Amino acid sequence: MLEAQITFHRSFTVAPVPRRLFGSFVEHMGRCVYGGIHEPGHPTADATGFRGDVVELAAELGVTVVRYPGGNFVSGYRWEDGVGPPGERPVRLDLAWRAIERNRVGTDDFLAWVGRLGAEPMLAVNLGTRGIEAACDLLEYTNIAGGTALSDLRAEHGHAEPYGVRLWCLGNELDGPWQLGHKTADEYGRLARQTAHAMRRIDPDIELVACGSSNSGMATFGEWERTVLGHAYEHVDFVSLHAYYEPAGGDVASFLASAVDMDHMITSVAATADAVGARLRSRRRIQLSFDEWNVWYQSRFPGEAELEFAEQRHLIEDDYSALDAVVVGGLLACLLRHGDRVTIACLAQLVNVIAPIRTEPSGPAWRQAIFDPFALTARYASGDVLRPAITSPRHDTARFGDVETLDAVATIDDDAGECTVILVNRSPAEPVAAAVTLPKGSWRAGAHFVVEAGTSAVVNSAAQPDAVRACTTTAPEPQEGQLTVVVPPASWHLLRFTHRAT
Ligand code: AHR
Repeated sequence: MLEAQITFHRSFTVAPVPRRLFGSFVEHMGRCVYGGIHEPGHPTADATGFRGDVVELAAELGVTVVRYPGGNFVSGYRWEDGVGPPGERPVRLDLAWRAIERNRVGTDDFLAWVGRLGAEPMLAVNLGTRGIEAACDLLEYTNIAGGTALSDLRAEHGHAEPYGVRLWCLGNELDGPWQLGHKTADEYGRLARQTAHAMRRIDPDIELVACGSSNSGMATFGEWERTVLGHAYEHVDFVSLHAYYEPAGGDVASFLASAVDMDHMITSVAATADAVGARLRSRRRIQLSFDEWNVWYQSRFPGEAELEFAEQRHLIEDDYSALDAVVVGGLLACLLRHGDRVTIACLAQLVNVIAPIRTEPSGPAWRQAIFDPFALTARYASGDVLRPAITSPRHDTARFGDVETLDAVATIDDDAGECTVILVNRSPAEPVAAAVTLPKGSWRAGAHFVVEAGTSAVVNSAAQPDAVRACTTTAPEPQEGQLTVVVPPASWHLLRFTHRAT
């Protein structure tokens, strides 16, 4: 059997676990909002129409941040349409997804819902069809205490207290030709800088995310970040990254190694941001917001251009298998390993649209296969992230070349006396015997959660909601801080250890 050695040591501390890494994304798209989080008349719905079963699952998922309202949708959105009495809100065409938008859910409704979930809102402003003024108006509406037209309007709408929203995205994917109001890097960089400057005049405490590239395959990847940050470096706190993965052409080996690509993207964007900072002789360090990531079978989506305008359409409701869950678990482990630089991340999206949670109208909500690796990591990753020293066998992939077969990360929480180890075998065929050395201490084995892809294409459904779940066993007992785990091909593992009282 192939063998790997993985060593964790407190000296390899990356950063405290950034809790904002466990974010998600709610876009006005398909059935994410309408028929997803919101379904008046559903047996679990509250007085405002939000489904109780969905909010419970989102809480179980451990979501800490929710980005809203888009996505491509935000680039044509008029936020004013979504506030005030729901029955009086205008019906509009959503040009991004060719939908009829009745505005039954808007900013106040979302902020109340995210508060009920106990998560932090991350609002995006429209820098596609709109600009500085609309962004400032929305910030005045949400964050100013009172005594101005828009803060008083919020109070009239029943929300006397300001929301104090801290996280703001300056538009969405404006490098993409599909985006309403698509811009060149110079055009967007100037607008992002001017909008940031104006928004900080309203609230200096906000944190601002500039759009990076829509994906690393864009012809302008790298150059876009360099140019945008050249304009906005001193005015923003984050630059965004987006990435979606699928087994293109049935290439499972490359798909399982998706985190290699994510890793490369993170180091490339960080290096680009740092190069701009060096040229500007700036003392600031731009953080990375990976605010859209997931498995998305994009090759199955014909695109929205030919669609007729419709409401609550089933759009990109990908069904996820255990293989997808292994990849999602590996991507989240990669984000954790970069926790010193990637301090926000959003699994895209939360409900129905490429999502860990699915719903049926008037019916149940259930967990997709990708739910468990995310929920378990969000629950058990605590304290500090530890980067491993890995000696791993390697194998070849068509897309990413030669890759390490075994991937790993750990967290250690000295206050709670807990250590959590995550292992991923990225080989589609070979098991690996992993010899793991835990950080110094006396450790007792706890739970061992496993998702193993095997060859099964089974997915969860309303009829079989638990067909694909993580299995739970007990981790091998460490002997003087060492243990060996046999890691089957294409599998994801989370092992728990607690400090043994002496
Ligand atoms: O998440 C689906 C879409 O993917 C978002 O609207 C867009 O930002 C990205 O291209």
